[in-house]
Amino acid sequence: MTNPTPDGVVVLPVLRVRNTVLFPALFLPLAVGRTQSVAAVEAVLATEDKSLVVVAQRDNGDDVPTNLDKLFTVGTRAVIKKMSRGESGIEMLVQGVERVVLLRAEQTEPFLTARVRPLPLPEDSGTEVEALYRAVLELAGRMLELVQTPTPINVQQLAAQASDPLRLAFLIGSMLSLDVAKEQALLEAATRAEALSLLHGYLAHEVQVLELRKKITSQAETEIGKQQREYVLRQQMRAIQDELGEQNPEKAEGEELRRRLKEADLPEDVRKEAERELSRLERLPPAAPDYQVIRTYLDLVLELPWNKTTEDLIDLGRTRQVLDEDHYGLAEVKERILEALAVLKLNPKAKAPILCLVGPPGVGKTSLGQSIARALNRKFERLSLGGLHDEAELRGHRRTYIGAMPGRIIQAIRRAGVRNPVLMLDEVDKLGRDFRGDPAAALMEILDPAQNGTFRDNYLDLPFDLTKVLFITTANALDTVPRPLLDRMEILRLSGYSEEEKLQIAERYLLPRQRGEVGLTAEQLVVPPETTRRVISRYTREAGVRELERSLGRIARKVARRFAEGNTQPVTVWPTDVADLLGPEKVRPERFRKELPAGVSTGLAWTEAGGDVLYIEATLLRGGRGLHLTGQLGDVMKESARAARSYIWAHATELGIDPDLFRHAGVHVHVPAGAVPKDGPSAGVAMVSALTSLYTDTPVRSDVAMTGEVTLSGLVLPMACYPAQGERDRPARAARGGAQRDGVHAGGAD
Ligand SMILES: Nc1ncnc2c1ncn2[C@@H]1O[C@H](COP(=O)(O)OP(=O)(O)OP(=O)(O)O)[C@@H](O)[C@H]1O
Ligand SMILES: [Mg+2]
Repeated sequence: MTNPTPDGVVVLPVLRVRNTVLFPALFLPLAVGRTQSVAAVEAVLATEDKSLVVVAQRDNGDDVPTNLDKLFTVGTRAVIKKMSRGESGIEMLVQGVERVVLLRAEQTEPFLTARVRPLPLPEDSGTEVEALYRAVLELAGRMLELVQTPTPINVQQLAAQASDPLRLAFLIGSMLSLDVAKEQALLEAATRAEALSLLHGYLAHEVQVLELRKKITSQAETEIGKQQREYVLRQQMRAIQDELGEQNPEKAEGEELRRRLKEADLPEDVRKEAERELSRLERLPPAAPDYQVIRTYLDLVLELPWNKTTEDLIDLGRTRQVLDEDHYGLAEVKERILEALAVLKLNPKAKAPILCLVGPPGVGKTSLGQSIARALNRKFERLSLGGLHDEAELRGHRRTYIGAMPGRIIQAIRRAGVRNPVLMLDEVDKLGRDFRGDPAAALMEILDPAQNGTFRDNYLDLPFDLTKVLFITTANALDTVPRPLLDRMEILRLSGYSEEEKLQIAERYLLPRQRGEVGLTAEQLVVPPETTRRVISRYTREAGVRELERSLGRIARKVARRFAEGNTQPVTVWPTDVADLLGPEKVRPERFRKELPAGVSTGLAWTEAGGDVLYIEATLLRGGRGLHLTGQLGDVMKESARAARSYIWAHATELGIDPDLFRHAGVHVHVPAGAVPKDGPSAGVAMVSALTSLYTDTPVRSDVAMTGEVTLSGLVLPMACYPAQGERDRPARAARGGAQRDGVHAGGAD
């Protein structure tokens, strides 16, 4: 506090500060606690200009550094602007005035004073300073955007506060949380350019840190934000619902399920499982992926008819009546059905038989099943096994799979709503089998009365009792049905219908039904039997009556249209009208040969449509040798031709044939309809007849057709209704369709 020398050197008390630097023109609040410092401040307060030097310690750890080495050499002369005394010392606000260089210590006791010389601020200017200044402003702007201060400051305000570039540097520097060394470097800067470029570096770093921090927090915030938002919205919704006196939907849903569970008639273990799932559900937020899964599952458990059955109504008289009402003919099948049902009546505890209806398409298998259900007063459900490859289709997928569903059996039971429906498994013969498992094996378990009491669907994962289900299966042929499955079933065969039967079915069932479909009465649409016969023979070629029904339907629709267009007169459809209604005839009438020359016989062939007549023609080739066969014959058929010839040769004397004929003449056997491949052993008898007729020159009766395999010793074997072992006359897969009437054989055209 000496008077300044001409170069401005003065002696002033020194206040040492930690962690911070006071810049000229800026304010700094300080708390003074150290005895030495308090003494210095007291002394300064006593002076008029209240000046002192504020200087940072080089090392924060030094408690009371007494010599100047421990302090930076550049400090700031400051003026105490405000002060207050507190318990822990003096609190005051100082303002920097100018930079000073500490030259040497004057005294150390009772407080430190030093001789200091002012260090004027640099005044350099130019494009570099200008450029740095702008760059600093820009960065500072970025920083201010990033630090969201409670009252936003923009950089223009800053620039206005500190018009001088250096002052701006000091101001910004003091705002950054820089360490002492950096602040000190700023304070000591020899030029403005140096100060600005130092600050630019600090700012750039600061901005980078701030940006990174923002990114991290915003990431965390979006995570938390989503959940929080949902939570808040949900709370609000609840509050609104409470206000309105409404119940919130999940709670309502949970309560509804609980109520249904209470009312449901469930076996004990099922109830336990359902309760367990329900409590899991109630603990889950409805947005959880498992929520819907459990809900759907509980719905199934609650809907399944665990204990619900319909009362059987087994009155055999009524049953017969119902079966007769729905189907014409089929006497034998109906008898067998009645027998099977009689067992159920006598012993309700008995295992229900598994019926298997086998026959060509359209002969009424499916509709018979429906009839049986109606006769028994049971619910009817049908599921097609055709093309089913995946075992899981029958048995369901475990619930852990996404989109898992119960298998078809459980679905059918659920649809039926009772646990004793008639369940028709259509097309057992079309079951597939591949890498996805063997559905036939699953089916076996389902149909096995010993196992199906605790049938376990993968999805349901609870045992379900299928013993009360009456299973009826259908198939077109049995050759592709696995043997063990066949053994479990009671086979009922439906053969194709004759023309006469078809006529009856048409008159009694199909016509009335088709009339009904289009809303015509029996008076309005008259179809005489001759007309139906024509439709049967010229427009359909089938074992069943499906195509026939469709054709009659077409006729009914065409006639209905006439009524719709204004006709009021009854319409009778004569055979001659059919072509107008159904178009040109589709099937050429079979032309039977009335006279057969010697060497020709009539055989029978199995076809898709039921059967056909075929002729075997043989002729002698005098002077030739051996046996010639034509007409697209398969190996089996060729062999039976050879066997036939050998048989006749061996029995030539008995048959009255000159054995020389075999030695001196060849024979040619031809089966016309030449483009169609034919095979099978069943043409055997017809071959023998044709050849015998040829050698003996005796015509065969033209009104008899024959079928049967012939052995070399002359036995005639009957043809099996479906391919028996060794019969290779048609590929197994082509089994769909085809009638085997009594006596219609299974050989020939395919
Ligand atoms: N004997 C019959 N009496 C009355 N209607 C019959 C008779 N046979 C078949 N039908 C009728 O023929 C139609 C076809 O029968 P259905 O659908 O039951 O054939 P399907 O044997 O199941 O054939 P697919 O093997 O193709 O499934 C049905 O409308 C059925 O009512
Ligand atoms: Mg069917």
